[in-house]
Amino acid sequence: MGKNKDSMSEGEVGMDENETASPTIRDRIEQANENAGTMSVFKNPDLLDPNYVVDSDRIVGRDEQLDGVISVLREALNGSRPRNMLLFGGSGTGKSLITKAVSEEIETMCDTQDISFGMIYLQCQNVDTFDRAIFELVQNAAAKVNVDPRVPKKGISAKAKFDRLFEIIDDHYDITLFALDEIDKLRGSSGSEPAFSKLLYQLTRAGPQGNIDTKVSVAALSNDVQFMHELDGRAESSFDPEDIHFGDYDAGEIRDILNHRKDAFKSGALGEGVIPLSGALCGQNNGDARKAINLLWEAGKLADQEGDGQIEQEHLRRSETEVDINRIETVICGLSPQKKMSLFATAAVKEYGNVSPVQSTVGFNIYCWLTESLNADQLGRETYVKYLRELSDYSILNSHRKGYGQGAGVMRVFEFDRETEMVLEAIRRDDRFSKISEDELKAVVRAQLNKFE
Ligand SMILES: Nc1ncnc2c1ncn2[C@@H]1O[C@H](COP(=O)(O)OP(=O)(O)OP(=O)(O)O)[C@@H](O)[C@H]1O
Ligand SMILES: [Mg+2]
Repeated sequence: MGKNKDSMSEGEVGMDENETASPTIRDRIEQANENAGTMSVFKNPDLLDPNYVVDSDRIVGRDEQLDGVISVLREALNGSRPRNMLLFGGSGTGKSLITKAVSEEIETMCDTQDISFGMIYLQCQNVDTFDRAIFELVQNAAAKVNVDPRVPKKGISAKAKFDRLFEIIDDHYDITLFALDEIDKLRGSSGSEPAFSKLLYQLTRAGPQGNIDTKVSVAALSNDVQFMHELDGRAESSFDPEDIHFGDYDAGEIRDILNHRKDAFKSGALGEGVIPLSGALCGQNNGDARKAINLLWEAGKLADQEGDGQIEQEHLRRSETEVDINRIETVICGLSPQKKMSLFATAAVKEYGNVSPVQSTVGFNIYCWLTESLNADQLGRETYVKYLRELSDYSILNSHRKGYGQGAGVMRVFEFDRETEMVLEAIRRDDRFSKISEDELKAVVRAQLNKFE
């Protein structure tokens, strides 16, 4: 008693004056940080963040699309309302980047001419209903002009939210561009008119209705151009967009994009052939620049973890599988448990039965087995097929009808675009699926296939 903490520790450790003190936690943290800094291959990792809007000198290979978007949005510089636009194309083809980059520039240029132009952005991917979409638009508009949004999430009508949205933009902008990114994901509850159709209708008729002075224009960005066919006739005619197509990149274009971001890494940290290999891996498969950039990022992290100081082709190859799983996982994460079970069952038939395409009858039987094993509700075969057909939007699988010769009729079948091993692995990362025994599942798949042979 009576000893203070310091004297106690000194006495008990019994440290000799000549001994050097062991490093404190702070010393260790500083040392670890310094080591990570010197060893790390990264210099400016922000350049590899997919949401970072790079300067225009880093945008390559999209002249036609840039010109297309510019020819529409430059109308704002004359104080006119730009036409509505539909930007469509595969994943990672530059739709979001180019919309944001051109809008930012138009905002700045309008500013110098005393025209207030504002782009209000909405990422629809995680917005599930029409009501939520308007709520998010109010939040984004309010944050952009720095005012209180003054709308609660629940308890007020969509109309009241819309009124607040229009009040905000009307107070601040001469011209407003709503950029609705990944609009095809905004479906809302099934059975009713898709939420994207309602939203497009409400936004595009805002100007012509004449209740507000700000001129309203809408840019919709989508992977799936089919969504246009689902628009209600009124929405289609009031949206009536200028189409701008974004094709997939080839290996050379991906290489070019990466070469313009080399300074994300320290000089000499990119080993020989790494960028060409990224281009080849991504250009051949899907022409997706996001995937290529992500691959470099993952390869860099791997090189750092292993303390190698340089990214080699081998890091890239090892990262590729992880990147693919993460990507599939991102899509899968947003699926309902029933959709996950439908997909899991079908992928299991391909993977463990080694058959392609997978017949819907076999896949559905495995789905039924799965629902019993997981003690989940069992939906009908039509719903199972409908879910899988919807999943073809996400480039995981595709569905078609196939004839099986005389007497056997025509059957709905599913063919996978991705390694099913990865699909299964990504779904297993959801805890509920981890209790499915792989051996048991294999046996059930084989038994089912034998039955149908
Ligand atoms: N032409 C390009 N030049 C430079 N970087 C590009 C180009 N195209 C795409 N990128 C980069 O690739 C990544 C993906 O691009 P972006 O997000 O614009 O794709 P997207 O078409 O919107 O894809 P998704 O449909 O999946 O949303 C981003 O990091 C972006 O900066
Ligand atoms: Mg995008």
